[in-house]
Amino acid sequence: MKKIEYFVYTLCGVLLLISVTQNAMADAAAGKVIYDGKGACGSCHGPTGVGDGPAAAALDPKPRSFAEGTFKYDTDGDGKAGTDADLLNIIKNGAAKYGGAPTMPGRADIPDSEIQALIAYIRTLKN
Ligand code: HEC
Repeated sequence: MKKIEYFVYTLCGVLLLISVTQNAMADAAAGKVIYDGKGACGSCHGPTGVGDGPAAAALDPKPRSFAEGTFKYDTDGDGKAGTDADLLNIIKNGAAKYGGAPTMPGRADIPDSEIQALIAYIRTLKN
């Protein structure tokens, strides 16, 4: 490979990486707005996602702490819990549908693209 080709490919790779990272950051920022706003996720999961929202004391099981970054439900049966697909299903349909607590409500009113942003945000809360 000529030096110039090598340079062009490397540059493309770097630019692609930058744009992917920036997209993920934009998603997470949009996710925070939904989490704090119409999602009202913090009422149970807490303003910073550690599971200590005002409603949490009355709940059993407790809302998940996103600081731990571990998830319970494998909603699509692929053998892995907590994939993006699983979190989308849980947030959209609620946990009860997958054998979990009915106190994790489904939010079918939130469009999938916004749920993706919520997921991106939740992933940034892992310690
Ligand atoms: C009324 C309280 C309540 C609200 C509001 C709530 N959650 Fe939950 N959430 C829970 C509880 C309780 C659990 C644990 C369910 C279980 O273990 O069966 C949970 C679990 C979860 C999980 C973990 C699923 C897993 O596989 O471990 C995710 C992700 C989640 N919630 C996201 C959200 C998002 C995003 C919002 C806002 C759109 C939200 N929750 C709003 C109570 C709530």
